[in-house]
Amino acid sequence: MLEKTYIMVKPDGVKRGLVGEIIRRIEAKGYKIVDLRLMRPNRELVEKHYDVHKDKPFFGELVDFISDSEVVGMVVEGEDVITVLRNMIGDKNPAIAASGTIRGDYANSLTKNIIHGSDSAETAEREISIWF
Ligand code: PPS
Repeated sequence: MLEKTYIMVKPDGVKRGLVGEIIRRIEAKGYKIVDLRLMRPNRELVEKHYDVHKDKPFFGELVDFISDSEVVGMVVEGEDVITVLRNMIGDKNPAIAASGTIRGDYANSLTKNIIHGSDSAETAEREISIWF
């Protein structure tokens, strides 16, 4: 099914110069970037994005990490793009993320884990409307 997803290179990915490598992987897979923006989101926007986790113990640390830092947000379109990109991103836990995935190759922290990708069609629609 043709879908759109929201992908965000997190501050650690931007600082480490991984934006080009992430875009390369997305394009090499055959997906189309239909919108892209470098942003420095305020706390309110980041809290809205991660609203579903607001009662989790890591929420404050996560919002601190993403807020007022440069991130690259993009909308990516393609067949089954939500699931395929989640597989290419890899597990959030670097101890589990497989080699060959973006997190498996570049992340070593649960919070500073390089990249975010929407986990469902409903979430993608919500996240795209928040960021674009
Ligand atoms: S959970 O644990 O089921 O709520 O996790 P999940 O739905 O996969 O998404 C959690 C997002 O928060 C980020 N994060 C952490 N998760 C778990 N534990 C800790 N300590 C933590 N710190 C940050 C995790 O990377 C997920 O971020 P996104 O951007 O959605 O991938």
